[in-house]
Amino acid sequence: MINEGNDRRGFSGYGHSTAHPSLALIKYWGKADSVENLPATPSLAVTLDGLKTETSVWISLNTGSGNTADAVFIEGVLQEKKRFEPFFREFRRLLEKKKPDFSDFTIKAESSSNFPASAGLASSSSGFAALACACSGAAGVELSRDVLSALARIGSASAARSLYGGFTSLAEGKRHAKQLFNENWWPEFRIIILELEKKPKEISSRKAMEQTRITSPYYNSWVKDSVVLMNEAETALGNRNLEILGPIIRKSYLRMFATMFAADPPVIYWKPISLGVIRLCEEMRAEGISVWETMDAGPQVKLFCTENETGKILSRLEAVFPDIRARVCTPGSAPV
Ligand code: DP6
Repeated sequence: MINEGNDRRGFSGYGHSTAHPSLALIKYWGKADSVENLPATPSLAVTLDGLKTETSVWISLNTGSGNTADAVFIEGVLQEKKRFEPFFREFRRLLEKKKPDFSDFTIKAESSSNFPASAGLASSSSGFAALACACSGAAGVELSRDVLSALARIGSASAARSLYGGFTSLAEGKRHAKQLFNENWWPEFRIIILELEKKPKEISSRKAMEQTRITSPYYNSWVKDSVVLMNEAETALGNRNLEILGPIIRKSYLRMFATMFAADPPVIYWKPISLGVIRLCEEMRAEGISVWETMDAGPQVKLFCTENETGKILSRLEAVFPDIRARVCTPGSAPV
């Protein structure tokens, strides 16, 4: 979060931030308020070391000439303005309070990640977390982590969690996330990220979530049940007990997808290879390997295990699916 230059005549502030994605063990799926982007379900997640998004932001005061439209480039591609407008509106509102004389300015952001965007690898979580930090750095304002988390949530609710390292939660209806345990809480905990497809998803998580909320007859049960799973998962995580946590992780993603499958039209992110990996995990568990999978809004599968099992799991994956890319991550830190 760097700030350079503070010349009021042609202010040009620069900020930079690196953030890690937030992978949910207990899933957020559905909004309590779609304008404020408040989640209907509680979520519990781990911030992933190894995967990262880097974002640079330039802020320039408007002088009455030139282009004053905010612009966001992801991997060099200009993004649709609509997706970022609520975030920038909230950022300007926050700034009005802190720097009342600083109101008419243009924001330009450039972002890139070391993993594919919009493919179900939580790029919007690290993306909006890095954007929030880089924006505050560019404006030269100190915003608390909770305020940055609430700002990032406007962009993407999962991004609220990426503002903290380690294990985090975002309660239903809440504006900002909180850290449950830092990145050193469970040193043996590992997350294996499998890249099964690079292509962007066919339907955005935002749209799919609304479709599920409005049309799935299971939606209300999903929301109610998430609270139960969340409480059980927090206890299991507090005891660092993967034998108990694993089955809860599995229930959360499978119940989320069951709710999506029942939507009209149904939301189906799975690909044959996704199911192949899920089946392989079942086989490994039957052999006594403690490996627990999850999926998000996309075909990728992510596995949770402990360090001592990682080698065995990777060689089984390699034997059955030689072409898929696997990255082993540990719980990661907050954005810098
Ligand atoms: C399946 O945070 O991308 O990954 O708030 O609409 O931007 P918006 O949704 P987003 O949804 C993430 C959904 C999920 C589960 C999770 O990360 O909790």
